Amino acid sequence: MNNLLKGKKGIIFGALNDKSIAWQVALKCHEQGAQFVLTNAPIAMRMGEINNLAAMCNNAQIIPCDVSKNEDMENLISKSVEILGGKIDFILHSVGMSLNIRKGRTYTDLDYKFSHETYDISAMSLHRLLQTCYKMEAISEWGSVVALTYIAAQRVFPDYNEMADAKALLESIARSFGYHYGKRDKVRINTISQSPTPTTAGSGVKGFGDFFDYASALSPLGNASAEACADYCVLMFSDLSRMVTMQNLFHDGGFSNTGFSYDVFNLLGNKAE
Ligand SMILES: NC(=O)c1ccc[n+]([C@@H]2O[C@H](COP(=O)([O-])OP(=O)(O)OC[C@H]3O[C@@H](n4cnc5c(N)ncnc54)[C@H](O)[C@@H]3O)[C@@H](O)[C@H]2O)c1
Repeated sequence: MNNLLKGKKGIIFGALNDKSIAWQVALKCHEQGAQFVLTNAPIAMRMGEINNLAAMCNNAQIIPCDVSKNEDMENLISKSVEILGGKIDFILHSVGMSLNIRKGRTYTDLDYKFSHETYDISAMSLHRLLQTCYKMEAISEWGSVVALTYIAAQRVFPDYNEMADAKALLESIARSFGYHYGKRDKVRINTISQSPTPTTAGSGVKGFGDFFDYASALSPLGNASAEACADYCVLMFSDLSRMVTMQNLFHDGGFSNTGFSYDVFNLLGNKAE
């Protein structure tokens, strides 16, 4: 299907490099006829890779925004509306960061200042984004906002650390704000719960390789790639999903509903009967 997003205007957070899920989303949105602004933290811009992505997407404009700063968010939203020449139809929130993970602190030995930063950047930022848009009336009717999350919000993955709590908060904000924004402007807000994906943020989690292999062996379809996630985001931004809101949508090859698989059994070095 072509041109699913023709005429739609968007904002895409979080494309750091070509491994980023957001990078793939930007390419697919461009392919489907959307126009959008790219954004990331000022510090991430220094790597400069986002310029290459912008060039591949019809010279999309790039606006720096640290999602933990109100003034950055307000600047991003007002400039985006100006640049795109109207209200926003879709937004991808693809942002996550844990200082405790980065610094090797375990869940039973958290540094609360780090945790505070994690919750602010990885979860509260979705509320900040939505509240800023709500007050500025920046999203068009039937607009769609998607934030990326992980199943550690529902089940324990010990090394996912305080990010699990951040994701639980993120999913709750999507539901709560989804109600208010749906009532006022018919704006839809959902989270997509993605398979483990080899990106900068993903690979930073201790034991990533092991749980990547485990998830792949448990899921009947295998792990969902970043590219497949991008396809799902396009569907969620399109009018084809217009009655879906306030949901946490698993995009995981069936992982979340599978209890046992012989592939996992064999992976652990056992012999199936
Ligand atoms: N990789 C996985 O296994 C996986 C699985 C499920 C969900 N997710 C989620 O997908 C999203 C995207 O992550 P990814 O895997 O593509 O990794 P990534 O490292 O490519 O993307 C994370 C992005 O967050 C940005 N960021 C961090 N702090 C920021 C700040 N203060 N302001 C603005 N941006 C900031 C980074 O610059 C980066 O672009 C995250 O929410 C992540 O938790 C990832």
